Amino acid sequence: MPSFTPDSELDLLFSPSLIPGNVKSQLGADLHMRPLAKTDHSRSHLSVLAVLTSTPDLTVEQYTQAFETLRSCPNTYYTVVIVSRETDTVVGVGSIFMEQKFTRNLGRVGHIEDIAVDKSMQGRKLGLRVIQALTGISEATGCYKTILNCSDENIPFYKKCGFEKKENEMARYHTVTAASVLPTAVLPVADVPSPRL
Ligand SMILES: CC(C)(COP(=O)(O)OP(=O)(O)OC[C@H]1O[C@@H](n2cnc3c(N)ncnc32)[C@H](O)[C@@H]1OP(=O)(O)O)[C@@H](O)C(=O)NCCC(=O)NCCS
Repeated sequence: MPSFTPDSELDLLFSPSLIPGNVKSQLGADLHMRPLAKTDHSRSHLSVLAVLTSTPDLTVEQYTQAFETLRSCPNTYYTVVIVSRETDTVVGVGSIFMEQKFTRNLGRVGHIEDIAVDKSMQGRKLGLRVIQALTGISEATGCYKTILNCSDENIPFYKKCGFEKKENEMARYHTVTAASVLPTAVLPVADVPSPRL
């Protein structure tokens, strides 16, 4: 079984000092919260996300490219993970990105996305700790509010996390082709050109 990798040996998405200490200290001694690391592909990050939605089987190269795309936007993307110290695998994850506005006195808004806790670890307040960490980062980096979308069945969870229901979500989906993706973006897996033989 792989041994636990300390933050000092990892290439992290952002400074771990942004994660509120009081949130980290409320995790069990068997768990550690930190920013996403460039090598978390090998620590089951995508398997945990699969409890939320279908997750493509990215290669290490595609995963690394996505990580670098996030990191190339300063002060914008923050993904936190909870890692089991025993197995060195990710058991909980959540992300927030910061939107710069022209309104609200040039305010910033934090948007929470992709909250997931491994099935075997649900009910241990890990989802709550991930949300507390993300809202703490949102507040500490100057956001005047934090918002998210969720299904009806998750409304009670987010209420427990201190959120209230406001307005409605609307969505319109698009067909993404390789030609429509910006050069700096990561291509969706289905559109990645096949290697030349
Ligand atoms: C939703 C999810 C993140 C919650 O994580 P979790 O670690 O199991 O939840 P927690 O233990 O932190 O729960 C915190 C509180 O919310 C409550 N809660 C959690 N999920 C709930 C639900 N679906 N309905 C009602 N209450 C819920 C818990 O009972 C707990 O209440 P308590 O403080 O009174 O004990 C997790 O179940 C999950 O990954 N689900 C699948 C993916 C998903 O739906 N993600 C959210 C996308 S918007």
